[in-house]
Amino acid sequence: MRSGDMKGRAKKQRNLFLRNAVLVFLIICLFLTYLANDFKTELSEWTRFENETLLREETDASLGNVEYLDLRMGHSRVLKNKNSKALDGTSNFNISSITRKLPNAIIIGVKKCGTRALLEYLRLHPNIKAAGPEPHFFDRYYHMGLEWYRQKMPRSGVDQLTIEKTPRYFVTEVVPERIYNMSKTIKLILVVRNPVTRALSDFTQAVSKGEYNSSVTFQSRAIRRDGAINIKWSAVNIGLYAYHLKRWLDIFPLESIHVVDGENLIRNPVQELNVVQNFLGIDIQIPAEIIYMNATKGFPCILQQQKTPPFRCFRSSKGRQHSYADKKTLTLLRNFYEPYNIDFYRMIKRQFFW
Ligand code: A3P
Repeated sequence: MRSGDMKGRAKKQRNLFLRNAVLVFLIICLFLTYLANDFKTELSEWTRFENETLLREETDASLGNVEYLDLRMGHSRVLKNKNSKALDGTSNFNISSITRKLPNAIIIGVKKCGTRALLEYLRLHPNIKAAGPEPHFFDRYYHMGLEWYRQKMPRSGVDQLTIEKTPRYFVTEVVPERIYNMSKTIKLILVVRNPVTRALSDFTQAVSKGEYNSSVTFQSRAIRRDGAINIKWSAVNIGLYAYHLKRWLDIFPLESIHVVDGENLIRNPVQELNVVQNFLGIDIQIPAEIIYMNATKGFPCILQQQKTPPFRCFRSSKGRQHSYADKKTLTLLRNFYEPYNIDFYRMIKRQFFW
């Protein structure tokens, strides 16, 4: 072979090698850009949690066209939503092949009972990934479809459960059936506390958001002019746990719903969390030693190693001093809730002492 031919061939081979190297380089660049974008989304989700906006909640739950004439048992009905099936796109999904998964568990309520604290504690578990903001899919954005919902979830591995919380689900009539259409085996978590304290907490939040002028008192909202309890006021209505739960139990078995004692979640978070981890079917791995009672805050906070400050408490909107309420109003409310509470204990086969 002539030396000219050999040189030509060597040049060709070099060019081919260079072209392939450039191609491989470009593919790696594309892949890294994809990863970086994805990481950015994750990061912004977390950063948004750190913002107060993420902790925004509804002050008044939309209670739909609920008839208030008799809120005791037997009057709840399941709304057969004609659109539910159309939006139930689960059959079109290959859930196993995607990294953002539809939730395995949802904290469905109750507003002002410790739902944020529970979600943030659960986030400490290595097998749990939790959505930061409340997605409000089943109550507000259902028309966006399941793919939209899935995109609101964090990325998770095959051995990780995905969880979200939206307390308004509990009081929104159409939600149980919609969730059931997505998953019949989903695990539902309900955090509750004394409904009188819950109502006051709700009112305090509304006042802090400037939703009432300074002349409005808890009493003036909770008690009607004729002396009856104002059950149309969402702060009162949301606390009718038995009434709302009935709708869920029309659709889901009690075994699908775990009730968390919101008061004990403050006193003894680790104990409550252990039961939740059991309910979720995951090993108990939330490190007990990193949740401690912070004397200044008066609530549990989370230790975070190698960070400044070395602990993280929930924001001032969580665990704040409640607005004033006179004793008489509180007693009236307690008496009002009593039969509903008893119904609730019977339904969940568990006793609270409210
Ligand atoms: P208060 O502010 O009335 O005390 P949610 O997250 O569902 O809105 O609930 C807010 C409630 O969570 C707070 O109501 C507070 O009682 C309770 N909570 C439970 N654990 C908490 C914690 N570690 N830090 C602050 N609040 C906590």
